[in-house]
Amino acid sequence: MSNDQLDQQVVELDNLSEHREIVTFMRRSAPLNTSQRTALEQYGHLILEYPVGDLRQHFEHPERPLTVEIGFGMGRSLVLMAKANPERNFVGIEVHVPGIAQCVYEAGMAGVTNLRVLDADAIQVLREMPDNSINTVQLYFPDPWQKKRHFKRRFVSHDRMPLVEQKLELGGTFHAATDWEPYAEWMLEVLEERPRLENLAGKGNSYPRPEWRPQTKFERRGIEAGHKINDFIFKKIS
Ligand SMILES: C[S@@+](CC[C@H](N)C(=O)[O-])C[C@H]1O[C@@H](n2cnc3c(N)ncnc32)[C@H](O)[C@@H]1O
Repeated sequence: MSNDQLDQQVVELDNLSEHREIVTFMRRSAPLNTSQRTALEQYGHLILEYPVGDLRQHFEHPERPLTVEIGFGMGRSLVLMAKANPERNFVGIEVHVPGIAQCVYEAGMAGVTNLRVLDADAIQVLREMPDNSINTVQLYFPDPWQKKRHFKRRFVSHDRMPLVEQKLELGGTFHAATDWEPYAEWMLEVLEERPRLENLAGKGNSYPRPEWRPQTKFERRGIEAGHKINDFIFKKIS
């Protein structure tokens, strides 16, 4: 998409009455391929319908620690994480329907049972969650919104972090990763100013790339473009 097309879409989004709030995403329509279409039927039980209320209630073991991933894209890394951690529950939230279909296809094929996904704005979903109910919130390679006038759409911001903090359990973590250096600097600045969060890598540092975080599609693209990857893990301390 050209810059002009992007600007036009953002203007249209701003004008939509259903979006009185500033959102962090742009809905992109794309046709589903055959396996994605089949997945929606065959593995539809992995998809939650919004509104969902307390996400934990949708699992056989609601008492297990919950990881919520915001904007999982095509979902491969989320499926790998869910498979590698059967003692946890995972919920992925995305607004890109082919990504949701692809994610349930891969989860269904892999026999993953501790993962649910839904098509919704993560902000709305978080609002419905009880306070102190999520163990981990992960945000991998969020849209960097590079232009200054779009900065208000960046997920990591003083406007949106209070909600994340409120929903995390004490001792729970917020894990973000980005390949966009200016957004990495911005994240560090915002997150280190949050009194309820502690940087697990020590002040001013990014977290060494955890080997348990599978590479995502946007991470691979960033690496191919020569970008440095920055991870940040912050713990809720109060
Ligand atoms: C740049 S992509 C990265 C996808 C994936 N995490 C990866 O690394 O390959 C960011 C994704 O976040 C989604 N997104 C952004 N804001 C969101 C929100 N508030 N709720 C749900 N999804 C969101 C977008 O639809 C988009 O697919």
